[in-house]
Amino acid sequence: MSKHTDKITTEYSKALQDKTNSIVKNTAKAKFAQYDSNNLNKYGADITDYSFGCGDPLSFAQVEKGQTVVDLGCGAGLDLLIATEKVGTLGHVIGVDINPDMLEIARNRTAQYHNITLYQAHIESLPLPSSSIDWVISNCVINLSASKQSVFDEIARILKPDGQMLVSDMVAEQLHGGSNIAVL
Ligand SMILES: C[S@@+](CC[C@H](N)C(=O)[O-])C[C@H]1O[C@@H](n2cnc3c(N)ncnc32)[C@H](O)[C@@H]1O
Repeated sequence: MSKHTDKITTEYSKALQDKTNSIVKNTAKAKFAQYDSNNLNKYGADITDYSFGCGDPLSFAQVEKGQTVVDLGCGAGLDLLIATEKVGTLGHVIGVDINPDMLEIARNRTAQYHNITLYQAHIESLPLPSSSIDWVISNCVINLSASKQSVFDEIARILKPDGQMLVSDMVAEQLHGGSNIAVL
């Protein structure tokens, strides 16, 4: 791991110790991330704990039954659960994250779904075959990468020719002296 990803892993592991740190939890129970709270209830009252997303990418993606979805930086796994419902039992959902603590929560939450696979890996170097994925989603992760070009190169490599990508993320401008941040 680089110093950059070491620091990110340390910070997110720290944040997991303090549930109040969760962006989704702090912002009126998922309103900020624009999740439909009624839909989330079926996953349990604590499902937004450990969520750090800035949107709800799957509510915009026309994911179909039987497709394969990859979530880059899946964190504690909320979007994996939503994705598995969309792809059904014949589809496949893959979560990738560098943080073992996040992956442990995701593993516990998704244990009953046999079509979810988790990898501890960098999104800049994905352990996935080329041209194998229908949808790449990501929720507030690519902004953290020190090599965004590598991430987009990997997305282009793993997507099937007609594959699609849908990400929620943030962009910042004028970081030195008054930053402007937009949530996409
Ligand atoms: C803002 S959180 C979002 C987590 C999740 N998508 C959600 O909606 O709650 C960022 C996540 O990306 C992971 N991450 C950050 N940089 C990464 C990288 N280069 N490769 C893989 N995962 C990364 C972190 O470990 C963390 O779990």
